[in-house]
Amino acid sequence: MSAPLLLVTGTGTEIGKTVVAVGLTEAWSRRDEGRAIAGLKPVESGVPHGDLGPDAVALGQVSTFHVTRFTPPYLLMDPVSPHLAARREGRVVEPGVIHRWLAPIRQEADGVVLELPGGLFTPLAEGLTNADLIGKLAPTKLLLVAPDRIGVLHDILATSRAARALGLTIDGIVLSTPAVPDASTATNAEELTRVAPTLPILAVLPRASRAANARHFDAILHQLGL
Ligand SMILES: Nc1ncnc2c1ncn2[C@@H]1O[C@H](COP(=O)(O)OP(=O)(O)O)[C@@H](O)[C@H]1O
Ligand SMILES: [Mg+2]
Repeated sequence: MSAPLLLVTGTGTEIGKTVVAVGLTEAWSRRDEGRAIAGLKPVESGVPHGDLGPDAVALGQVSTFHVTRFTPPYLLMDPVSPHLAARREGRVVEPGVIHRWLAPIRQEADGVVLELPGGLFTPLAEGLTNADLIGKLAPTKLLLVAPDRIGVLHDILATSRAARALGLTIDGIVLSTPAVPDASTATNAEELTRVAPTLPILAVLPRASRAANARHFDAILHQLGL
């Protein structure tokens, strides 16, 4: 049996994907005590040679599956888009490599949370974005994280339309409260439901510690049916 796979992507970078992926990995582990839940990141740029990236480390720390046995396939040095970081090292990100790395993890674990780099349409290679990779990985659930700030209405509408055009289903959207709120913060969830009532907004995550946000992560998992 292949474990359920929750993919965490977003509308961009530095918007709370790791916070959400770590929170959900921990919530899943806490709820299903004694089961092996893995939090992983297959592609990470800005990682010094020989190290593990900070996102993979944070996910590993809350995993109850021994993720250290499965080194992420693409640890890239330059802190730029994965396609460019890979090219500078003479490498090419290939979906088949990620798929083959993930398959035994899904065989052994009871649940997998996978954070993807950047946003849903971030390029991983020429002619390949995260969205194309997601199509190949066929996740159980796909979660989109977006910042609760001005501009997010456009970003979510554009991203969800483009995802639909590719045949991808976004199962949940989490708005993450930014470090510096603006006049739109705390209004965007409601406005999204007005302009696009079918969007699956699951939570507005406060700016708070993981412990303080634990009930939000529990609720997101529950709403995703995981
Ligand atoms: N809900 C939150 N509460 C507290 N800090 C947050 C929250 N969301 C994001 N952050 C902080 O904002 C920064 C960017 O978040 P991160 O999850 O690393 O983004 P991404 O994975 O999308 O690049 C990090 O320093 C993170 O700790
Ligand atoms: Mg991250």
